[in-house]
Amino acid sequence: MTIRLSDLGKAVLDTEYAVRGPIVARAAELEKQGHEIIYCNIGNPQSLGQKALTWNRQLLALCEYPELMERAPGAFPPDAIETAKAILSGTKHGLGAYSESRGVRYIREAVAEFILERDHIGVDPDAIFLTDGASKGVQTILRLLIGKPSDGIMVPIPQYPLYSATITLYEGRMVPYFLDEANGWKLSRPMLEASLAQAKAEGTAVKAICVINPGNPTGAVLDEANIAMIIEFAQAHGLSILADEVYQENIYLAGDEFTSFAKVLHQLEAKDVSLFSFHSCSKGFLGECGVRGGYFEYRNVPDDVAAQILKLQSVSLCANLAGQAATYAMVRPPKPGMPSHAQYATERRAILDTLKQRAVLLAEGLNRVEGISCNVIAGAMYAFPSIVLPPGRTDFDYALALLEQTGICVVPGSGFGQAAGTAHFRTTILPPTEKIQKVVDALGEFHRNYR
Ligand SMILES: Cc1ncc(COP(=O)(O)O)c(C=O)c1O
Repeated sequence: MTIRLSDLGKAVLDTEYAVRGPIVARAAELEKQGHEIIYCNIGNPQSLGQKALTWNRQLLALCEYPELMERAPGAFPPDAIETAKAILSGTKHGLGAYSESRGVRYIREAVAEFILERDHIGVDPDAIFLTDGASKGVQTILRLLIGKPSDGIMVPIPQYPLYSATITLYEGRMVPYFLDEANGWKLSRPMLEASLAQAKAEGTAVKAICVINPGNPTGAVLDEANIAMIIEFAQAHGLSILADEVYQENIYLAGDEFTSFAKVLHQLEAKDVSLFSFHSCSKGFLGECGVRGGYFEYRNVPDDVAAQILKLQSVSLCANLAGQAATYAMVRPPKPGMPSHAQYATERRAILDTLKQRAVLLAEGLNRVEGISCNVIAGAMYAFPSIVLPPGRTDFDYALALLEQTGICVVPGSGFGQAAGTAHFRTTILPPTEKIQKVVDALGEFHRNYR
């Protein structure tokens, strides 16, 4: 007899991941039937035409096939060849061999230097783990923190469903805290306290708070004071912090800047708060989602717990080596004066400028439609507008009808969580600029008819 659904555990069956849920499955079916689909459901930049940075691909090509250095030396600038040689010698055995469980030390040292330059704080390369995208790092830390079914993790609502899905899979409790839509999706101490108090009253042992900054799906960017407030909240209640900082390069408003949790933790001298920070090659201006590169860095974690993290990571041996090389490329771009610097800077600027332009186009366009209201997209790669629905209709019905009628594939707000009585959808800002206009026009017409 083959395996049956009833053989599977409840946790597996209960796990949901809306970003690739039933609406996307329907989109794939429609595409097969010959319909044009505009995939706005997932932050996968290169699937929507964004080009990889030349520097990254040169390094990856050279590391994957070092013979190119002799066979086609003229095809690569000397700094790319030199850098690839340095990465390869750091790996010792090339990209086809396992590395140590934390990842190649040479690359971790480069990550440590990147954090030092960004935050001006000391960094221990052995507190850095290279991972297959940020997702694997988040899963490792949630695995570490959830010990029994009454253990809870505070997660923003709306959230990125990696968190809800993984907490369900590991049979913990998700403790929602609401972001304030009317206040640019910011978070406030009273809202955090209320959520924690309710969880405690329900018998939940809250272990940690997750924060996504810049926010997915909200696009909000936290300032230093907000981050300090969250750290002080965690300190007051003995919580660890998971800081998901994969969109740290995606900041669009003049005057806003990315501030890391690690930096503020250092400034506050909060030595009794454990922090896990995550970064990725998938977002920013690189968009290398398929390469699966990323890292996490921890602070204020005692040695015996750190040994357990190393043990967990060693069960899957190590992160993929191409992803590790891409992480090196991310943290060590060509410096001014190097032959590849000008091209790198131009490509980087062009991508970030385009994203910024699309963020404005999308938010302004959506706000012109009666019944749709969208906050300013300050960061990340998404809009999460609220929508007024006819009585009896859900945001799932809305997203499905939008797909069937226009070919636009978005994710219903319920997949990310939303305040009771509200409805939303999430769309990326990633389609090419001319398609964004098409999306806005088609959405406007659809929405008017749907109401
Ligand atoms: C907030 C957030 N964290 C983590 C990830 C995972 O990224 P990756 O595993 O590709 O690094 C994503 C992807 O969309 C995300 O939006």
